[in-house]
Amino acid sequence: MNTILYEVNDNIAKITFNRPNALNAINKEMLNELDQVINEIKADDNIHFVLFTGVGKAFIAGADISEMAHMNTSEAKAYGKFGADVFRKIELLKKVTIATINGYCLGGGNELAMACDIRIASEKAKFGQPEVSLGITPGFSGTIRLPRIVGVSKAKELLFTGKMIDAKEALTIGLVSSVEPLESLNEKVHHLIHSINKNSLHAVLSTKQVVDEGIEGSLDDGIELETVHFSNCFSFYDQKEGMNAFIEKRKAKFNHNKEE
Ligand code: CAA
Repeated sequence: MNTILYEVNDNIAKITFNRPNALNAINKEMLNELDQVINEIKADDNIHFVLFTGVGKAFIAGADISEMAHMNTSEAKAYGKFGADVFRKIELLKKVTIATINGYCLGGGNELAMACDIRIASEKAKFGQPEVSLGITPGFSGTIRLPRIVGVSKAKELLFTGKMIDAKEALTIGLVSSVEPLESLNEKVHHLIHSINKNSLHAVLSTKQVVDEGIEGSLDDGIELETVHFSNCFSFYDQKEGMNAFIEKRKAKFNHNKEE
């Protein structure tokens, strides 16, 4: 891999964007390598968490402008579709995905972060969708995900101005869920993983599915979907163990996916 560092420790996969000279801008090579790694992760049942971060002062400063500058319409269409497909694949992973945003998180970088379940930012992080300043719209689904996360009005303000906001403002508008000093960012993320890991993986991933599918449909469809997942949990070992552990005043030992 030339553009990405990839490691797996226990049940955690870590993807580090590694083009520091271009502030980790996403080029076609990086998208290809990312796609390859995501396919590996998708096929590996032992991986439960996927972390994304960047080398140096950027998470990702957007798609690579020098590469895009020479594209024609059909090349841009293929590039946009490929990026959107890879990010959608990340969003649909049956894993908990966390963007650990160490620095600049712009354009395609913010679009990737928005495809993750949880975004934790360093105090030094900066966010924005500057595409209109380059004469384009976002290309990797930023116009679609940003309004769902921060609301239509704030999304349009950010998308129309292309301005950068700091981590504090990103927290205020709900683009990230917490902001930490850069030095303690990794510690915070591992603490978060620990807090999730002690729960039933089956219940966490069912919850992810209900949130993600529920928000796209009607309220009634969402309520029905939750009932299906809620009741389905009762045919899994984890529900028996979780409730018995509570009653017996001990810690639950979940055994993911074991059906009664
Ligand atoms: N593409 C290509 N190269 C990039 C880049 C990008 N998105 N962002 C930064 N770089 C390169 C710079 O060209 C520079 O390279 P050289 O040293 O060879 O000149 C290097 O990274 C360092 O960047 P700067 O010198 O500009 O660093 P800075 O600290 O002064 O500024 C910055 C940092 C404000 C993030 C600035 O680099 C910047 O504005 N970058 C572009 C951000 C942007 O517009 N991103 C959106 C891209 S479009 C997109 O993402 C479309 C989509 O949805 C698919």
